[in-house]
Amino acid sequence: MACPSSSGKYRFGKLHNGPTPQFLHQTLARINRKLIANKMKKRHLGNNGFEISEVGLGCWQIGANWGNEIEKKKAFKILDEAISSGITFLDTADVYGDGRSEALIGEFLKHSKADIKVATKFGRGANVFPNKYTEQALRDSVDASSERLNVECIDLVQLHCIPTEVLEKGEIFDWLRILQKEGKIQHFGASVESVEQGLLCIEQEGLQSLQVIYNIFRQKLTKELLPQAYAKGVGIIVRLPLASGLLTGKFTKETQFLENDHRNFNRDGEAFNVGETFAGIPFETGVELADELKTFCPEHMSMVEMSLRWILDHKEVSTIIPGASSPIHIKGNAIASNLPHLSEKLMSDLEAFYDNKVHKHIRGVY
Ligand SMILES: NC(=O)c1ccc[n+]([C@@H]2O[C@H](COP(=O)([O-])OP(=O)(O)OC[C@H]3O[C@@H](n4cnc5c(N)ncnc54)[C@H](OP(=O)(O)O)[C@@H]3O)[C@@H](O)[C@H]2O)c1
Repeated sequence: MACPSSSGKYRFGKLHNGPTPQFLHQTLARINRKLIANKMKKRHLGNNGFEISEVGLGCWQIGANWGNEIEKKKAFKILDEAISSGITFLDTADVYGDGRSEALIGEFLKHSKADIKVATKFGRGANVFPNKYTEQALRDSVDASSERLNVECIDLVQLHCIPTEVLEKGEIFDWLRILQKEGKIQHFGASVESVEQGLLCIEQEGLQSLQVIYNIFRQKLTKELLPQAYAKGVGIIVRLPLASGLLTGKFTKETQFLENDHRNFNRDGEAFNVGETFAGIPFETGVELADELKTFCPEHMSMVEMSLRWILDHKEVSTIIPGASSPIHIKGNAIASNLPHLSEKLMSDLEAFYDNKVHKHIRGVY
């Protein structure tokens, strides 16, 4: 007997016509995302730190103080894609978009049930950098970040590339330890520019993590900092894993960047440490080197995948934080967690490539 209800009619109609291509496409995309998320591997951030995804997300881009401000809807799509892909670690800073990156993360996480750890930073605000650091300024900044992130206790606060003299003096670490005791921050770490700064920081009691620039174009840390940090139980967070996009292989010498993009205005270190842009390599040279690197890619592996896998193949690394200006980037980066290790031969070829061809071009503190 035919069902008289309208819902029955609807069901019959759906079965009769079959699912639409759009429906199939969306379902497959959902299954695909779930598979990637399920395969994301986790690592500990240092000996006593929390467990986080080995591929995280750099959120400088979603603060977007470089021109084409990423609108809120797109920023949320990037964050949504990250979480669907199994990413559980976000890196931001009080100065990214003058608090905008933190505020967007705070608002997004209000509606998310995922267990996400957020690391922010202190130390590059015009009120403190380079020599006006005080306990009160740190306290005020942490309070403001907590409010924007919408949390009572921040998961991880990192010193944000502050001068070596301030690290040497050391009292800033005492202030961090006080905030930790008060329950305002769970852990503290430091984002550094050089091996020298990294070695200084890992001597500090309670330092949970070091954030460093480390990629195929910047291999010095492999011997000079990573093993030392590992021995102290300090986690390593890798920024610029793609050398500001050079290691995707997608740029040509003609590629133009927006006026307010640091890849335009900081190419030669005009505004801040040259190492933060293209890993310190002159752009045109970087494009040539990246083109040469394409010949090293194993079959079925993209440049992005080889570059990210190269970093993940170092056990000392806790997580990598590629930045993304589009949700499309996320899946391409998250997949690195699920790829096989690079062969020993390829690892040694990439080391020789760096030694012979790349090292001499790196500018700035290192
Ligand atoms: N001092 C510090 O502590 C400091 C300094 C710098 C950065 N950071 C942190 O580190 C994070 C990462 O650094 P970063 O963003 O400068 O460098 P990055 O991760 O090496 O490069 C990011 C850029 O690479 C491109 N990209 C990323 N994934 C891609 C993919 N799958 N396919 C194609 N292109 C892709 C995008 O370029 P397009 O936008 O051109 O497409 C993106 O903007 C930042 O977001 C920030 O959280 C910290």
